[in-house]
Order: sequence, then structure tokens, then C-alpha cells
Amino acid sequence: MSQVTATPIERLRADLSAADFTVDALDALWGTDAAAALHRGNRLPATRALDTVTPLGTVATLFVLGLPVPAADAEAAFPALGLADAVELGLVARAGDSITPLLDLRPYSLADAAGVGSWWIASDLGELALGHAIPEDHVLGVGGASTTLSGLMMSRSVASVLDLGTGCGIQALHAARHSSRIVATDISARALELTRFNADLNGIAGIEVRSGSLFEPVAGERFEQIVSNPPFVITPRSEGVPAYEYRDGGRVGDALVEEVIVGTEAHLTVGGVAQLLGNWEYRAGEDGLERVRGWIESTGLDAWVIEREVQDAALYAETWIRDGGTRQGTAEFDRLYAAWLDDFAARGVSGVGFGYIALRRPVFPGTPRLRRFERLGTPLATGLGDHIAAGLSAWDWLSVRSDAELADERFSVAGDVTEERHYWPGDEHPVVITLRQGGGFAREVQAGTALAAVVGASDGELTLGQICGAVAQLLDVNDAALSAEIVPDIRELVFTGMLLVS
Ligand SMILES: C[S@@+](CC[C@H](N)C(=O)[O-])C[C@H]1O[C@@H](n2cnc3c(N)ncnc32)[C@H](O)[C@@H]1O
Repeated sequence: MSQVTATPIERLRADLSAADFTVDALDALWGTDAAAALHRGNRLPATRALDTVTPLGTVATLFVLGLPVPAADAEAAFPALGLADAVELGLVARAGDSITPLLDLRPYSLADAAGVGSWWIASDLGELALGHAIPEDHVLGVGGASTTLSGLMMSRSVASVLDLGTGCGIQALHAARHSSRIVATDISARALELTRFNADLNGIAGIEVRSGSLFEPVAGERFEQIVSNPPFVITPRSEGVPAYEYRDGGRVGDALVEEVIVGTEAHLTVGGVAQLLGNWEYRAGEDGLERVRGWIESTGLDAWVIEREVQDAALYAETWIRDGGTRQGTAEFDRLYAAWLDDFAARGVSGVGFGYIALRRPVFPGTPRLRRFERLGTPLATGLGDHIAAGLSAWDWLSVRSDAELADERFSVAGDVTEERHYWPGDEHPVVITLRQGGGFAREVQAGTALAAVVGASDGELTLGQICGAVAQLLDVNDAALSAEIVPDIRELVFTGMLLVS
């Protein structure tokens, strides 16, 4: 690349590459303990580890630790870009000999179906760098919810993707690995600017940014895939409670999540899939997941909803007040806490659920709809997008087969399924048999003797009907009764990917 013709962004990319500004290099620079301390909001261990001046140390000090550096060090760290252009690009500000960061910029490593990769992601400076609470129009960097959604994102190749509420653009960047056309929307002009910057900095094409609320910027358009980590945090709509753009959609309770769920139907192509994160309220006597089911019942969409956790109302309020930078034990904390508890009490809210939602516009509207609502607290593995896609395909396969037709099929046990047996000491027969999934959602299935025997014999050679017959004979029970008992479990194991269709 000629330094003369290269754009400032290209020259910045060259400098960040030359500095080896990567996750691994940072870990090596200050060590994993300091990295963990930084994650907890403490930068002292990392600053103490930086005892010599290198371009990597300078870039990390500015953009990860959010601290000023001397102008001479910044000059040395940006030989291609130059300090003047770093100022022009809005990366840093100069005051005499001191260079201060204007944004947070950090390396991000990823691994998905397309392979491993490394990006740099810019977002607004956080509380640590600012030295005070973040403003309401703060543009968030990559957080836990971001990586949860990107880890769940289906990666089949699609013609078009909508990333609703793109923030720093992280989901749009991930989507660009399997689609050449992504529309990234946000109400925040700064978010769209940072998304554009991040796409350009990482040389990622195909992302169009559009300004507007929810589905307004894509009125009349449909997408093969929609992803959204929407501003789902439930916030009191009362005077003096900050409304952070990055997490608060400005609605009462969980109304924004309902709006996004229901709104996807008009924007998905036939067979298109939407993947969302959300919060939902548990209101007086009403189960939160049932509440989500109620929203989805008004649509013709297939739905697979997984509730990962439920926080009681007080814990939820504490979590989000702290997230906004207000410290516990202060009068301000108590004022906000009271506002949150009043708001929850007004609707009889006792708790808030958090989870993942996959919605699909059906290919054949006449076939049975998938309506699966479940609670799964297991830690998330990587590559879950493919697992979700496989579950949806398994549903299509299962929903058009009767129990009798299933009996004629051959199945084999997935390679990541193991079986555990527990015995009372000295007993010949197990008291508990557990089938355990290694990948996917790491499910555990308690199996009776008959189900364990049928699964164990499923090697793709014999049909399910033949295996049930043999097991019935072995256990000296009625063949038809055993099949009737087993088939619903087999359907579940096929859906969850623990049994594969041969
Ligand atoms: C939780 S952040 C998600 C950012 C990013 N997609 C991610 O996964 O990290 C939610 C984003 O939605 C945006 N937002 C807030 N209200 C919105 C609205 N009514 N319509 C569209 N986007 C909105 C915020 O500005 C913010 O960027």
C-alpha cells in the first residue's frame, strides 16, 4: 500500500497491524490477571505492567485504558497515519504535549463457521476513561449480550440481513461473514458513524447504515435474516431516571421487546429467520415465558424461545442502576432504586426473564407451527448458530412425519452424546441414566431403561420400529406400548440434535 494514496483509515489499519494490536498481544503485554482486573473496571494492574514505551503499549494506553500519552509516543505509534490525521479522524485530541483518546478502540477476536478472525472495534469511551458516569447517548462497545447474540447467529449464506439497533456494528460485521448485503439501523447518528468506521477499518464491505426507530428505516422491505440485540432494558418512565439509548427503548415495561418480536413478521422473507435477545416481565401470577408465548401467538411465525435466567425485581433494578455508573450506598442509587421498584410495583412485576428468541417465517404455512418455549441455564458453547439452524430443520422433518412413519426411519446417536449410569452400591440395575450432550445447549436427558436401550441401539442400521420391537422383547413388555412411550422422547432427541436421522 502506498502511503501517498492510502486513505487515513487504511493508514490507521497499517499502524494497528504493525503495532500487533491483538487480543493475544495485549494479554501478553499486561498478563491475563491484569486483563481480568480491567474487565472488572480496574486498570491499575495493566498500567503497572507497561514499563517500556512501545507502539503497542501506547495504543493500548490510549484506547483500551483510556489514558493520555505524550505526543512523541503517539507520533511513534502512528508512523503511517500521523498525529495530525489521528486528530482529524476523531481518534484523539491534542492539548500541548498531551494526547488524549476520544474513543475506545480495542482488538476483538472471533471464531465462527467461516474460520477465525481478528478485528478492531471502536465505541464511545467508557466510565473508566471518562472518570464519570457515561452520557445517555453513549454508544456501547462489544459486551456480554453482544457476544451472546453473535454466538447464536445462524451463519448459513443469505442474500440480506437486517441488524436492528446496530450500536458499534458488531452484529452487522459478523453478518457480513455470510451475507453480502447488510442493513444496519439505529436511532443514534453516532452509532451509525461508528458502525461505518468499524466496517471501513476492518475492510468489510456490504454494510449500509440507516437512521430511524425500529423497523421505520426498512418499511416495506424483507430480509432473509434479522438479528437484534435491542434496547430491551426495562426502565421506569419517570422524571430524573436516565434513559440510556444503548439499553432503553423508551417504552413501558417490556413493550419494546413485544414490538420487535411482532414486527419481524412483516420484514422476513419466506423461510427467513430473526434472532433476538430480550427481557420479559413476570407479572402478578403470570409466567414470563407464557407472556412471550402470548405475543407470538398473534403471529404466524415459528418460534423457539429459550429463557436463560430470571432475576427478581430488586436484583434487576440494582444491576441496571450500577450499569449506568451509579454506586450503591449513595442517595442517588436509592432514589433510582425507589423509582425502579415503584415502576415494577405498578404492573405487579416480581421478576424479569432474559433469553434468546428465534423466529421464522414458515415456508409452508399449512404445516404445524414450531412453538417451543423452554428454560435452559447451561453455559453457552460456541457455534450455536448451526445448532439452531439444525433444530429448525429437524422440526421441519419431524412435523411432516407421523409416529408410524418415524418407526420406519433409522437414527444414530450424535457423536457428542455420552451416557452416565448411577447405581445404588451393590445394585445390578441403575437408578439414574443420563444422556448428556457435549455440544449444542449441553442438554441432560434422564432416560428410563427402555429409552436408554433404544438410543444405545440406534446405530443407523435398524429402524426405530425394529429396535423398539427388540427392546420390548428384552424387557418383556408390550411392543406397541413401549413404542408409544418412546416416540415423543425420540422426537425430542431428534429436535435437540442428540439423535441424527441416518
Ligand atoms: C443493546 S445495544 C446493541 C448494540 C449492538 N447491536 C450489540 O449487539 O452490541 C441497542 C442499540 O439499539 C439502539 N436503539 C435504541 N432505541 C432504538 C430504536 N427505537 N430503534 C432502533 N435502535 C434503537 C441503541 O442506540 C443501541 O445502539
